[in-house]
Amino acid sequence: MDMAALRNDFPTIRKGEGIYLDSACQSLRPDKVIKAMTEYYEEFPSCGGRSVHGMSSKVSLITDEARETAAGFFGTDDPDCYIFTKNCTEAINTVAKGFGLRKGDAVVTTDTEHNSNHVPWLLLSEESGVRRKYSRSKDNGEFDIESFKSIIGKDVRLVSVHHASNVTGCVVPIKEVAEIAHDAGAKVLIDGSQAAPHMKLDLKKADVDFYTMSMHKMLGPSGMGILYGKRECLDDLKPLTAGGGTVGLATYDSVDLAPIPDKFEAGLQNYSGIAGTKAALEYLADADMDEIRKHDRMLMRSIFKNTEDVKGLTIIGPDDPDKRCGIFSFNIRGLSPHDIAMMLDKTDNIMIRSGMHCAHPFFHSRGIEGSARASVYLYNEEKEIERFAAALEKLSDAFGIELYI
Ligand SMILES: Cc1ncc(COP(=O)(O)O)c(C=O)c1O
Repeated sequence: MDMAALRNDFPTIRKGEGIYLDSACQSLRPDKVIKAMTEYYEEFPSCGGRSVHGMSSKVSLITDEARETAAGFFGTDDPDCYIFTKNCTEAINTVAKGFGLRKGDAVVTTDTEHNSNHVPWLLLSEESGVRRKYSRSKDNGEFDIESFKSIIGKDVRLVSVHHASNVTGCVVPIKEVAEIAHDAGAKVLIDGSQAAPHMKLDLKKADVDFYTMSMHKMLGPSGMGILYGKRECLDDLKPLTAGGGTVGLATYDSVDLAPIPDKFEAGLQNYSGIAGTKAALEYLADADMDEIRKHDRMLMRSIFKNTEDVKGLTIIGPDDPDKRCGIFSFNIRGLSPHDIAMMLDKTDNIMIRSGMHCAHPFFHSRGIEGSARASVYLYNEEKEIERFAAALEKLSDAFGIELYI
């Protein structure tokens, strides 16, 4: 990757807004995405799939093209299988509410889920008696396939696990998970919000039934997500919301739901977000997902190497930097995660995240109050990692362990 040219594509980097290490929350956006979004408002700010005038036809065309781009990008061939949602959370909820789980059916997650892939199942169990089963992670947070196998049985109708953890960055072997689940007659939903930005995906080969994504973590617009599903699985799924655009014909007494994808996209859509989604996927394809993965790994190795001498540093997750999907969660003895994040921001203009990262059960069950989290992406360079590590060292020396010895 030509780093200088690539970094120049991002307005906040051009303007020198600081070192951005919070991409697991939201990534930065390149000019191409911003331009695609403003073009919609400036040139054809109209609805898609309804009116037949020129502006509207342009919106319909861009929407179709965005679905085609997604299908190609994720290794599949049916654009109708890509539903645009508000975010990954809405995509997961669409499956949770529409899958038809009943009392006694079991859903399998892991003990390391984001609340977006935890709370919907928790509520479902309270409301309808759906049973929940957890696959336990290893002590270092890695997915444990033996624990997973041990809880799969005929009662399990759906497995819903993350592809990469937003705390440890560990990756779950989704193809193997899908094979085991399918052998037992269960369907599989993968929360891909942390993995899709960092690796080349072939959803056809992975053979998962549903896959959900956050576009704002992969250079796309805020408030955009994708729900991918196999055609037959989406056909069987009930929509989360219903109304305009989701029906073939409605009379006073009856309704024919439209075929996919329309039956899931009720009301007018976030068309500028859809245009931005298309642009983001094109940008990532040009940058090459394999190159991005290599680059992320290089940065992770650099973080591990450069922070070796930070006193009182504890790292959450495996010691092997190659096992992390661009995520480095840590604590410094004597400092709260929020203190670390605020001081890095104020003193060195380095932006990271702090807290429980919406993975409350993970932290709660391990008795950890939270962590600081630095996360990298294609636009970060090694120089920034060195500055981050030096800033941590400074913090630790000044305010960390020594106060507490
Ligand atoms: C693993 C994981 N799942 C789900 C989500 C929720 O994504 P969204 O904000 O797009 O709903 C996040 C967001 O941080 C995440 O990290």
